[in-house]
Amino acid sequence: MADAICIFNKESLRAPKKSPLLPRLVFVTFAMICGVYICSICIKQISTQGTAKFLNIRIFQEPCNTSGIEQWELPYVHYPKPETFDREECACNPVRYFAILSMQRSGSGWFETLLNSHINVSSNGEIFGSKERRANISAIVKVLDKVYNLDWFSSASKNECNAAVGFKWMLNQGVLEHHKGIVDYFNENGVHAIFLFRRNLLRRMVSVMANSYDKSKRLLNGTHKSHVHSSEEAKVLATYKPTINTTTLLAELKHVDDRAIRAINYFKTTRHIVVYYEDVVGNNTKLKEVQDFLRLPYRELTSRQVKIHTSPLSEHIDNWDEIEQVLKGTSYESFLQSDYQM
Ligand SMILES: *[C@@H]1O[C@H](CO)[C@@H](O)[C@H](O)[C@H]1NC(C)=O
Ligand SMILES: *[C@@H]1O[C@H](CO)[C@@H](O)[C@H](O)[C@H]1NC(C)=O
Ligand SMILES: *[C@@H]1O[C@H](CO)[C@@H](O)[C@H](O)[C@H]1NC(C)=O
Ligand SMILES: *[C@@H]1O[C@H](CO)[C@@H](O)[C@H](O)[C@H]1NC(C)=O
Ligand SMILES: *[C@@H]1O[C@H](CO)[C@@H](O)[C@H](O)[C@H]1NC(C)=O
Ligand SMILES: *[C@@H]1O[C@H](CO)[C@@H](O)[C@H](O)[C@H]1NC(C)=O
Repeated sequence: MADAICIFNKESLRAPKKSPLLPRLVFVTFAMICGVYICSICIKQISTQGTAKFLNIRIFQEPCNTSGIEQWELPYVHYPKPETFDREECACNPVRYFAILSMQRSGSGWFETLLNSHINVSSNGEIFGSKERRANISAIVKVLDKVYNLDWFSSASKNECNAAVGFKWMLNQGVLEHHKGIVDYFNENGVHAIFLFRRNLLRRMVSVMANSYDKSKRLLNGTHKSHVHSSEEAKVLATYKPTINTTTLLAELKHVDDRAIRAINYFKTTRHIVVYYEDVVGNNTKLKEVQDFLRLPYRELTSRQVKIHTSPLSEHIDNWDEIEQVLKGTSYESFLQSDYQM
């Protein structure tokens, strides 16, 4: 249809060669208006698809309606515009940023699988395990920007309808070293810090030693596993009973304890929560608190991971009697008692 009009227009432009001035002017003006109108129709017909996309982008870039969000929360609410995909119908679903700050063998792997069982959560694993990514604060910020813009891909990525995105970060992976720059970033970008620590650092020590033993001995049919999914596998890994050095024990426990305290202190200006592994085991209330903290719609969280060391500690440490002697009367005495039931 537009083509027909376009041809008609061209012919009529050629027709009036010797008309008087006034009608000529009127005609030219008319032709111009006609031309603009026709052109607009032509463009519309050439690409309805293009027009749709154009409209979409306009909707996308309109600020999202935040009237349902409390004032204090606004700095923690984000509407990322990923470069790698389109959030589509969830473009205006608010997204919270988080980081699980923890230490090796503190249950963070298990905790992360629990979070990832939530349909709206992507926790992308230990992304700062790579030294290059944490070489300096600008390298760290670059990675953080990518993760929080939803452009980081891992098996946990859930794309469009994310309500919380994050990863886990061990304190010895640049967190303490670059704490100042990281705290600034967290405050500027409204990142939630979730500290996950173990209360019983002696149990953690057993887990660290057993894991490092398994790294060299590969107890499970020649493969090393840090986390297991069956009680049979757990039993095999728990057969190893480490001997703990009594000379260095107290200093080591204190060293680990101090790092946790230092980390919490550094991040005290950020919005944060401190979660103890022991409180999450066998009690869903803590997981509910974590979901509240991230303002997630509440869900039952599940994990297939199985705990490795389930017996009283006395059965997991070879030189138990010595360890008992060393810890009695110290502030770490409570580590000797069984602190939770499975
Ligand atoms: C935002 O949403 C609220 C309801 O949640 C509605 O009353 C209000 O009109 C909306 N504002 C705009 C600008 O769309
Ligand atoms: C930061 O580290 C990255 C990766 O190792 C390196 O390419 C970059 O030059 C470093 N930047 C500064 C400012 O040191
Ligand atoms: C969670 O994900 C579901 C399914 O993708 C989506 O329908 C829902 O809007 C999301 N909820 C939030 C709070 O983003
Ligand atoms: C080792 O492999 C055998 C045969 O593939 C299997 O039956 C057994 O369950 C495995 N054991 C462990 C501890 O994974
Ligand atoms: C305990 O650690 C100290 C200091 O590292 C070391 O000198 C000592 O030999 C260790 N003791 C045992 C029994 O391994
Ligand atoms: C779970 O933890 C909450 C506090 O976080 C406590 O009040 C409650 O008694 C605990 N429930 C069980 C079954 O231990």
